[in-house]
Formats: sequence, structure tokens, C-alpha cells
Amino acid sequence: MNITVVGTGYVGLVTGACIAEMGNTVYCVDVNRDKIENLKKGILPIYEPELDTIVVENHAAGRLQFTTSLKEAMAETDVYFIAVGTPPGEDGSADLRYVLDVAREIGSLMERPSVVINKSTVPVGTADKVRDTVRQQLEARGVDIEFDVVSNPEFLKEGAAVDDFMHPDRIIVGTDSARARQIMDELYAPFIRNHPRMMFMGVRDAEMTKYAANAMLATKISFMNEVASLCERLGVDVENVRLGIGSDQRIGFHFIYAGCGYGGSCFPKDVKALISIAHQNDFEPKLLQAVEARNDLQKHSLFNKVSAHFSGDLEGRTIAVWGLAFKPGTDDMREAPSVVLINSLINAGAKVRAFDPVAHETAPREFPEEWFTEKKLEIVDGQYEAAIDADALVLVTEWKPFRRPDFKALKKLLRTPVIVDGRNQYDPAQTQRAGFHYYGIGRMP
Ligand code: UGA
Repeated sequence: MNITVVGTGYVGLVTGACIAEMGNTVYCVDVNRDKIENLKKGILPIYEPELDTIVVENHAAGRLQFTTSLKEAMAETDVYFIAVGTPPGEDGSADLRYVLDVAREIGSLMERPSVVINKSTVPVGTADKVRDTVRQQLEARGVDIEFDVVSNPEFLKEGAAVDDFMHPDRIIVGTDSARARQIMDELYAPFIRNHPRMMFMGVRDAEMTKYAANAMLATKISFMNEVASLCERLGVDVENVRLGIGSDQRIGFHFIYAGCGYGGSCFPKDVKALISIAHQNDFEPKLLQAVEARNDLQKHSLFNKVSAHFSGDLEGRTIAVWGLAFKPGTDDMREAPSVVLINSLINAGAKVRAFDPVAHETAPREFPEEWFTEKKLEIVDGQYEAAIDADALVLVTEWKPFRRPDFKALKKLLRTPVIVDGRNQYDPAQTQRAGFHYYGIGRMP
């Protein structure tokens, strides 16, 4: 098959590269000329395990092409993925500008019967808008070409995106067209050869499925964070509660880790968008609002713990921060709890020395430049270097090298032995025995 993918962000690039890996020819299109030129040279805009190898190999084999011209790509293909961003507007609703721009361009260039597949996360009813937009363009050109619009939401996780695409739990396809269904079956057959797992449903059902999946996961996290806050007040260790409830198969162990709040480009955006969809439909989504509110509070919990330890006086203190990315395995800083923590610390007069194994290049964009020149914020090259003469160490992202640190070395390096563990990675008793003041999430100090 020959396929075009519009948008070379996380979803678009992974989709394009993985589909090319299965022997198809894929054109990846993006309006950003630098991004396309870099991709041709094998320079990727994101860090994602395994992605660089399959991009470079498939590009070299001629199966993965990069271009800024949708027209050039469309000359060769009749299956289009829309995988452009849907950033939140001011009211939290998904901004469909880029999706509809692509639909307009496809309509203005389409020459043959085609399938337009929407992979971007979009509100229920967007496929209808895409269909109307393409049709308007065809009508304006005075041509009548058969086309289908399919909703095919993506469920990949950052840090495991290639693996998720190659071995999907399920492939959700929203369509009412037999022709589109057949094309989707063919397209995904190589990924599910040993275990068929296509799920066909209505276009609007598929659009809602994506939001409901992310909102459910976000709800589990916020629920557990709320339980954790209660545990702190009751002298209970939330980690024991997690094990206790997770063993109930109806609850399960996934996504019940209390922490410093969910971040990333998906959960915060999608929960906000679903709240906005509810409001547009005269519905008060009380649970989703609570999920979001709890997450906002949770992102402040690390600062509150540091501040409480020093009785609110952080002026002149240095705080070491381990982990900047919103989760391990990525350099993505979008909506990362580290950003909330570092902003609060610096605004309270503290200095921050931070280390992240991967996000050291993306991190500077998140903070004012003068913080670096005035040495209020330093991003250092090693995890122990961050701890030198610091008054406390805060673990924000549970990268593997942070999980079993050399506590003896840490104790020597820190000015005061305080650990705030935002991911409950350490044993409170063990760290206390090693001479630290230990604060976890949902655990007694
Ligand atoms: C999420 C979903 O997991 C994917 O299925 C979905 O496809 C994707 O959004 C998307 O919509 O594109 P992602 O944002 O990459 O993927 O990250 P997750 O691994 O889900 O983690 C999200 C956040 O939740 C992280 O900040 C993580 O630290 C936090 N989290 C996760 C917890 O605080 N506790 C948990 O138990 C699990």
C-alpha cells in the first residue's frame, strides 16, 4: 500500500515509520521545513526508543519519504492519515484548526477515491466536520470523488510508542463504509497477524472511546492520589493499600501509583477537552472536574512538602531535582510536575540544581532564560552532581538510575539529608535508617 501521513509529531512519525516497516511506502508530510530536512538526515524531533532506527532504515530503503508537499505525496497515495496536533484552546476545548486545514488541502487536491483516517484525538463529531470540509472543496472544484472518513484513534504511550504500535492491545476503527473497513483490515493485518484485535464501531463511538480511555486512566491516578493524601493523615502507607487493592482483578495494578500528578501531552489536554465537550452539551462533568482539580493540587504537593520541612523558609536554599521529563523514557516536558515544582521553588527564593538523563535539552525551553544566567536554575550532567550541597533532594521522575541510589554518597553530598520522593521509589524505613528525613506520597514521614 502507498500511504500518506500528515503531521510528523509523536503519533504521525511513529505511525508512518511503523507502517513503512511492514513493507508499505509511506509519505510523511509536515509544514515545518526544518523538521522535514532533519528527518531526511535522520535527525528526529523527539526522543523515542527504537524510532530512530526504523526511521533511518526505512528512509534508506526508500519506503519512508519526507516532504513538505501534500500535493507530491497525494500523487502517489489514496490513504491519508491526519495526525496533526489538537492543542487546547483557551477554554480547554480541542483546537481543530490544523485538522481542518489538512482536510481542506486534501479536498483541494484529491484525484481518486480515497480514505481519510483521523488519528488525532478529536471531539465527537469531528469526522463529520472533516467529511464536510473535504466535500466542500470537491464541490468548489466541481468534481465528484468517492471518499470515506474513518476515526482510528491512537493509544500509544510515549517511551513505548514503537512497541505499542507494533503490538497493539486493540485497534479501534470507526467507520460506516465497507470499502474503508477492508482497507483498514489490510493495513493493520501485519500488526495483528497472530491475534486479531480489530474493533469496528461507529465513527462517533471511536472518537469517544479515545477520550474515555484517557479520562479513565487519569481518573484512576487522581483517585489514588486522593487516597494517598488521606493515607498521610491517617498514618497509612499508600503503597500497601495499592498492593492490597491491585490484587483484586476488577481493580488491577495498572495506573494506581500515587505520585506527583499526571503530565504529558495527553491526559491533561484530553481531560480538559472532555470537560469542555460536556459543557458544550449542557452537562456538568463533576467527576472529570474533580480529576483535574486533584491533579492540579497533586502537582503542588512536592513543593508543599519541601516548604513544610523548612517551615516555609526557602530563601537561599538549594534544592536538587532528579527528573524533569513528565515520565521516564521520554524527553517530553509538557505539563510535567517538575515545571510546577521548579517554578514554585524559584519563586520562593530557592535555587534549583536539576538532572535528567534525557530531557536536559528540552528542559531549558520551559523556564525563563534569566534563571539560567542568574544561576537560579542549573541543569547539571550527573545525578550526584545535582545533590552537591543541596538542602533537599526531590525525586520527580522515576528514571531507572534513580531507583537504587547510593544513599551513603548522597548523605555526604547533601547539606541537609532530606529526600522528597515524588514517586514512592524508596523504602521509608531504610532511608530513615540511612539518616534521611523521608517524605513520600501517601506515606508517613
Ligand atoms: C497516555 C496513555 O497512557 C496512552 O494510552 C495514550 O495513547 C496517550 O496518553 C495518548 O493519548 O496519546 P502518555 O501520555 O504517553 O500516554 O503517558 P502515560 O504512561 O499514560 O503516563 C501519563 C502520566 O500519568 C505520567 O505523568 C505518569 O507519571 C502518570 N502516572 C501514570 C501516574 O502518576 N500514576 C500511574 O499509576 C500511572
